[in-house]
Amino acid sequence: MEKVRINIAIDGHSSSGKSTMAKSLAKELNFVYIDTGAMYRAAALFCIKERLIEGNEIDERRIPTAIERMYIAFKYNAKTEQSEIHLGGANVEQEIRSMEVARRVSLVAAVPEIRHKLVNIQQRMASSGGVIMDGRDIGTVVMPKAKLKFFITADVEIRAQRRYEELKEKGVETTLGDVLHNIQERDRIDTTRAVAPLRKAEDSIVMDNTNLTIDEQFDFLLSHSRKAIAEA
Ligand code: DC
Repeated sequence: MEKVRINIAIDGHSSSGKSTMAKSLAKELNFVYIDTGAMYRAAALFCIKERLIEGNEIDERRIPTAIERMYIAFKYNAKTEQSEIHLGGANVEQEIRSMEVARRVSLVAAVPEIRHKLVNIQQRMASSGGVIMDGRDIGTVVMPKAKLKFFITADVEIRAQRRYEELKEKGVETTLGDVLHNIQERDRIDTTRAVAPLRKAEDSIVMDNTNLTIDEQFDFLLSHSRKAIAEA
């Protein structure tokens, strides 16, 4: 009988390095990596383009009908060897990383209809196992039965510094203060929203990476993953 492959859930605060770790882990274990933050960012881009969001206000009345036209999917890019996010058939992998999207995404991610639609897609993608999914509600809502759950965090100043360096390298013009403010604001909205707020699943393994190198983090996650796979 073929062995059912486990799923791995990775949740945690914004810019805690979840996706970097999830990507490397998926490559090492030959699992499929799913970046659910990219899906919420694509939804935020959709809302911006459709003028469903003005300043900090979302037009909740128009959302249910409008999102019937919101097509979000991952497509594999052989050149980058990554699955990239598409909105309405167009590759928006770069566009969703802008500060404009970062400023709006937590507001959009708090809308119940949007969460409902994206959670359904995520659960379908995880239904055959072999998936590493990162986000905010993966261990609590999307895959509550995942065999292995991690919760990743770090001091907010460290997260802002790392994110700032990353953006600077990509040529995005911003300041450390701006990035810190954005992360604090996202933490606040993500942890206090009414639907599926960011919280640690009781059965998750916590990794605070404030003082850990990339290699130390990877080794920690890999050893827990190998153990869980062996036990499955
Ligand atoms: O992981 P990220 O920073 O790209 O996520 C972008 C935003 O999307 C983040 O502010 C919170 C939201 N998000 C969410 O609410 N639920 C998820 N499963 C993933 C992301």
